[in-house]
Amino acid sequence: MSWLVTGGAGYIGAHVVRAMTEGGESVVVYDDLSTGSPDRVPDGVPLVVGSVLDAPLLKSAIDDHDVTGVVHIAGKKQVAESVERPLHYYRENVTGLQTLLETMAAADVDRLVFSSSAAVYGMPDVDLVTEDTPCLPMSPYGETKLVGEWLIAAAAKAYGLKAASLRYFNVAGAAAPELSDSGVFNLIPMVFERLEAGTAPRVFGDDYATPDGTCVRDYIHVQDIASAHLAAAKRLQQAPDGTSLILNIGRGEGSSVREMVERILKATGNEDVTPEVTARRPGDPARVVAAADRIHEELGWSARHGLDEMIDSAWQGWRHRHG
Ligand code: WQD
Repeated sequence: MSWLVTGGAGYIGAHVVRAMTEGGESVVVYDDLSTGSPDRVPDGVPLVVGSVLDAPLLKSAIDDHDVTGVVHIAGKKQVAESVERPLHYYRENVTGLQTLLETMAAADVDRLVFSSSAAVYGMPDVDLVTEDTPCLPMSPYGETKLVGEWLIAAAAKAYGLKAASLRYFNVAGAAAPELSDSGVFNLIPMVFERLEAGTAPRVFGDDYATPDGTCVRDYIHVQDIASAHLAAAKRLQQAPDGTSLILNIGRGEGSSVREMVERILKATGNEDVTPEVTARRPGDPARVVAAADRIHEELGWSARHGLDEMIDSAWQGWRHRHG
């Protein structure tokens, strides 16, 4: 009995693999290594290299490793790229999930934990976003995650699949430097990159209707994201057929871009640097902060790590990668 973790060689996936093995679960990683790295897969954990679009390979991975549940993290996740390459995103994220669900159904694998995203909400006009806040994604990326949730809910109803879709808010930090995010697509690494180049970090707009005028987000440590997957996986082992959970993974605390940049400057010894305020980035919502009650009620989970741990561990990871 083991869990197939798709995308398990990636930044978030590798943390999930560790949390699950430490939590006593047997794990197999399935990853096409497009952005993942085999170095992130721990010794003793099998790695199957392939795409989730490859049904025969998925089937043999399930059969060979006695897989009884899947944690599906593999996917494309860059909002801007999804606007330029929507068909690619639909293929990888939606057709990939459909292929996985078909293969699971044929093999009688009936448990699924799915990586969803706060991007499904789009521009929510509420203080705290609950799972019942209407979903109006603003990008093909967010659309593919919402369609994925729909596919899963329909499969749960039709075939008795037990599933949990976890809507991640803004993921940051690392459990160890070598597990850190290698991409430079989010606020924290983008600030590191500017600092390293000797340029001022940028704040994309300070005229939002927020307390300091900059956008507010709910940052969550990747180790907390990982422990939520373990809790969801364990919960599904006891869940009745057809269970279909949708859960935010956030801390329920908002932090502004200005506050984050100030903390990053302090953590990296750059207190003397003044951030540069530039124009708004198109499509950015003013505020996206999770209501994290439902996951606490359903799984007994809550976040343990704070902003400084996220920033410090991300910085150690950055220095590990960039010398
Ligand atoms: C955070 C805030 C920027 C860089 C995205 C996706 C979301 C999820 C996480 C996958 C924003 C501001 C950034 C900079 C800045 N992805 N910023 N200067 O946009 O909240 O969420 O990543 O699931 O779906 O949309 O994250 O880290 O890009 O930005 O001012 O140099 O920082 O404008 O307000 P975002 P982010």
